[in-house]
Amino acid sequence: MDKIEAPLRMGGYKRARTFCIGPHRLVRGDCVPALKRLTSESVDVVVTSPPYNIGLSYFTYDDRKEEGAYLAWMQEVCAQIKRVLRPDGSFFLNVSGSSSSPWLPFELAVRLRGLFCLQNHISWVKSISIGEDTFGHFKPINSARFLHHNHEHLFHFTLDGQKSLDRLGVGVPYKDKSNIRRRHHDVDRRCRGDVWFIPYKTVRSKSQKYNHPGTFPLELPQTCIRLHGVKNPVVLDPFAGTGTTLIATHYEGGEGIGIEIDSAYVTIARQRLEYLLQEESSP
Ligand SMILES: C[S@@+](CC[C@H](N)C(=O)[O-])C[C@H]1O[C@@H](n2cnc3c(N)ncnc32)[C@H](O)[C@@H]1O
Repeated sequence: MDKIEAPLRMGGYKRARTFCIGPHRLVRGDCVPALKRLTSESVDVVVTSPPYNIGLSYFTYDDRKEEGAYLAWMQEVCAQIKRVLRPDGSFFLNVSGSSSSPWLPFELAVRLRGLFCLQNHISWVKSISIGEDTFGHFKPINSARFLHHNHEHLFHFTLDGQKSLDRLGVGVPYKDKSNIRRRHHDVDRRCRGDVWFIPYKTVRSKSQKYNHPGTFPLELPQTCIRLHGVKNPVVLDPFAGTGTTLIATHYEGGEGIGIEIDSAYVTIARQRLEYLLQEESSP
């Protein structure tokens, strides 16, 4: 965990502004107008986790829109994402439903059918029980009807469904090594498949997650960027939150563009990136 002070005060919406931090740009503002200002076909990878419309308590954003309005808004955002994406770009959309809105992620994916091909549907597993053992963390649900939500969706959209991916770049070693020769592989690496177990790190307080209710672990955007397989990619997150995608982009040698509406989260994202750049430049 990077040593960043989580905000204790309310964030709020301030006048739009762009911060340049090393090779990265962080825009404080509403993503729809900010996206409209980006050049068409200029982005290699989009990795983002929008508000899920399930009532999370963000500092500013009200996470309970009327469902039709939410879907129409997301369609507008995604039409802009399509415009700024290069023809061979990848758009990784992380969403989750809730017990009261179980259809929402699927409704959203179907709405995006007119804009993108669904090239892969990845399940991001946050916690799993194997036999008697449990790995990872989850928020327990107190209900006789619903199971704990231990996974989220990661929709991988492309413009034509034809993007070649670096499957081995995020691959795993063969369990049965005899497969390497039998299948004529050069390296001990196979595709990891479409179920990714990426647990949250253990934290002791909300402040260690920057008092943000919906961050994703760094390894999630990092795996998406690597899977896309382009060197020094331009990576966009229009719902940047605390800047996790920008941090992942930096580690992967890319150039990040983040957009976030809440000034408190923008401050955190800036601090995280500045801290990383300072650490790198100190002897
Ligand atoms: C699920 S969170 C993203 C968290 C991020 N992945 C992270 O790891 O920190 C969604 C973010 O979208 C922001 N947001 C909501 N409406 C927005 C808008 N119109 N434009 C830009 N950001 C917005 C919220 O403030 C919230 O921080």
